[in-house]
Amino acid sequence: MKHPKVFNLPEEEIQKLLVYELYNYLEFTVWLELGPVNEVCNLIRMPSFLPWLSSEMKDDALKIYVDEGAHAEMAFALISKIEEHTGVKSMRMEPKFIKELDELILSQPKELEQMIKIFLSLYLKL
Ligand SMILES: [Fe+2]
Repeated sequence: MKHPKVFNLPEEEIQKLLVYELYNYLEFTVWLELGPVNEVCNLIRMPSFLPWLSSEMKDDALKIYVDEGAHAEMAFALISKIEEHTGVKSMRMEPKFIKELDELILSQPKELEQMIKIFLSLYLKL
């Protein structure tokens, strides 16, 4: 916002840019919560995934899943309300980190799960 090309824009244009920035934040929240966060929570709650985790931890994963889904819904509802109020439409863009995270996960060796198990057993005394 301090760049001369932006700073010298009419106030209406600056406000529009701020709305777009808010949409970026809210869209990021929707994609993050419904994507990687809840994918991991869903995995953790499954008995066959990291079976050494306590049932309490697995139960918490389901609670977090539900909470994060609610956060995503709230962010999505805010986008709709802001669109209605400002007349500025969200571009509904997929954040870049989603594809980057997918690529990172696919590039990891299968042995990573074993490494996580060792780490947790050493540092968390599981
Ligand atoms: Fe959240």
